Amino acid sequence: MKQKIINIEQSEYWNEKSGPKWVKNEDALNERLSILTNELFSRAKIKASDKVLDIGCGGGNTTFRVSKLLIDGGYVVGADISHTLLNHAKSKFSNIEGMKFVHCDAQNYSFDQNYFDKVISRFGVMFFKDPSEAFKNILGSMRTNGSLNFVCWTNLMENDFITEGMDIITKYTQKVLPEVTKDPGPFAFSDREYVKEVLKSAGFKNINIDKVYTSISTKDSVEKDAELLMGIGPRARILSEVNLSNEKMSMIKSEIIQLCEKRKMGKEISYKACLNYITATK
Ligand SMILES: C[S@@+](CC[C@H](N)C(=O)[O-])C[C@H]1O[C@@H](n2cnc3c(N)ncnc32)[C@H](O)[C@@H]1O
Repeated sequence: MKQKIINIEQSEYWNEKSGPKWVKNEDALNERLSILTNELFSRAKIKASDKVLDIGCGGGNTTFRVSKLLIDGGYVVGADISHTLLNHAKSKFSNIEGMKFVHCDAQNYSFDQNYFDKVISRFGVMFFKDPSEAFKNILGSMRTNGSLNFVCWTNLMENDFITEGMDIITKYTQKVLPEVTKDPGPFAFSDREYVKEVLKSAGFKNINIDKVYTSISTKDSVEKDAELLMGIGPRARILSEVNLSNEKMSMIKSEIIQLCEKRKMGKEISYKACLNYITATK
């Protein structure tokens, strides 16, 4: 059944602007997010027979990882608002038993009711216009005692991976990092008390939020890493708005490469990261 998309701005953003970037940088991002993905999976404790919903599944890597844990009766649905990302997911993971992808706005989509044992998300639930309504909708899809497990960013300033190089970009563009608000966006859930309120108002119980300091690391070259830093998040958004000359872009890149060099220890470049792991039950 086709359903109305409520989060139209996010749909446009994830289809047209950010979706193609996530597709392009997918391997690089999956490598960097591997520590926190392992942590999410260890917390979610997915069993072989579980029915699992992966919200904002993007390119489907976490959905596919769930599918590998399932045997008889287990089932996983990857749900996402972006055709761009879902088409990519489907092109990589087709005909996998016990796994399907659904294009939808998770805020209002009619998921099967009282069905899922586990709902998981890696950075896919901070983009709802009405988070309380969205989580109410998600709760309806869960079985009694089913669990929700997701990971999201804490505040911007504790995440070097997102802020590194901003001073340089500001020097060339005179633009600064946008203020973090509770509007849909990667940092909308950085305030733990607010997340608790949202989940409580949606009807969740046993809400627990763990703030975890960790790192985001890569074995990529400093050149590749600098390109990624300039290609994602608020830095990329600013650079796309100002339209600098190629010469200035190269200057920014070489200054950012120097920052990446400074972070290199042995074979790895590492960034400080801070995440919230949220668990709650129906
Ligand atoms: C930061 S990306 C994370 C993607 C994926 N979970 C991963 O870790 O690779 C956020 C994802 O949430 C999806 N998304 C945003 N708003 C959504 C909504 N209302 N319903 C379903 N998916 C949504 C986006 O399309 C995007 O794929």
